Amino acid sequence: MSFTDIIAKKRDGQPLSKDDIDAFITDVSTAAIPDYQISALLMAIVLRGMSDEETVWLTDAMVRSGDRVDLSNVPGMKVGKHSTGGVGDKVSIALSPIAAACGVVVPKMSGRGLGHTGGTLDKLESIPGFRVGLSLDEFKKMLVEVGATIVGQSASLAPADKKLYALRDVTGTVPSIPLIAASVMSKKLAEGSQALVLDVKCGHGAFMKSETDARELARLMVAIGTRAGIRTEAFITAMDVPLGRAVGNALEIIECIELLKGRAPDDITSLVVTLAARLVVLSGRQSEADAEPAVRKALASGAALEKLRAMITWQGGDAGVVDDYQRLPGAAHRHAVVAQGDGYVSGMHAELIGRSSMALGAGRRRIEDRIDHGAGVLIAKRPGDAVRRGDTILELLYNDGRGLDEAISLAEEAIRVAAQAPVVKPLVLGSVR
Ligand code: URA
Repeated sequence: MSFTDIIAKKRDGQPLSKDDIDAFITDVSTAAIPDYQISALLMAIVLRGMSDEETVWLTDAMVRSGDRVDLSNVPGMKVGKHSTGGVGDKVSIALSPIAAACGVVVPKMSGRGLGHTGGTLDKLESIPGFRVGLSLDEFKKMLVEVGATIVGQSASLAPADKKLYALRDVTGTVPSIPLIAASVMSKKLAEGSQALVLDVKCGHGAFMKSETDARELARLMVAIGTRAGIRTEAFITAMDVPLGRAVGNALEIIECIELLKGRAPDDITSLVVTLAARLVVLSGRQSEADAEPAVRKALASGAALEKLRAMITWQGGDAGVVDDYQRLPGAAHRHAVVAQGDGYVSGMHAELIGRSSMALGAGRRRIEDRIDHGAGVLIAKRPGDAVRRGDTILELLYNDGRGLDEAISLAEEAIRVAAQAPVVKPLVLGSVR
């Protein structure tokens, strides 16, 4: 069958066979078909959808387009974690050392921030000297010696996804649940974990704006992982409001360290504890009943903080930041966004806060932009908090002030103050096991 026939088949709503999908990914990998034909098929998939079976085949073909990390020489149960991304989402940086302190091996490959969501690698690179570009041998050695590592995605994993994602980004074909599920899961399956915990974010600040779509994405990714023999679970968590109190690279590193010292706000601490406990359960190291107490003990004893110190040191970073936040990049100036009247903070639009932080220099508009690791937004009052006129709700931290006007207007637009206290949604909206 020619590639034109495959496009026509999907255009007309017929299911693709495994052979069609294998041929598609082989042709993408070998550059045997032009970008316009690939894009036409992607658009047909967006409009017509794909069955679970087609999505599993697509994921599998994308995994086979590159290497699969072999972690069989690393002792212990390897459990991965992935978030679909949000504003202030620093969970992986706090959770990995906690899980490692509980004896779970956490091999984590992460991405950079683009647009309004921050990237785990950029946050870690605010630690002076921290290297995210470990070789595969270093990645494995660190897992044996420390139990957790967070590095950049190796270019040899799921290269077909890289090509497809670049095209999807410029052809309006990102918003397709099967394409997103196959894209995320192809990279996760190639990373070599034996179990996987997914955090599917939902709300203004996330890829999935509606809870229905987030639940469907979670269901599909769990189905793909399970069919591939990886025990996979997903949480659906709210991303209408930024997570925690800090948005921006060094600011989020400080919040993670504070969390490991037991001094972070309850909302983010409880989400990290919930996800870490699932990693511990999936690793088989603790029962359902004992996992959370084990996680809380790793926090209270300081064992998780010591793991973070070990991770930073192994990756060439200055572990002194754990005790002295002045060693992290800072911001020379602050601007307070204040309440215009008395009442309660009733809304805080995550995407607008993410864009405000980006305008201050904490994120990139284009892949080649340099980021300012010290810039960002601190949240002084959260939805539900009472405020008086003039109270600071947000603080914008910046250095060169280039995007300040835009950042201020985005931040002002993001917050709402009302006479009545709002109903605050729980962070964890559901799970798929
Ligand atoms: N993240 C990915 O890795 N792929 C997508 O398609 C969307 C988000």
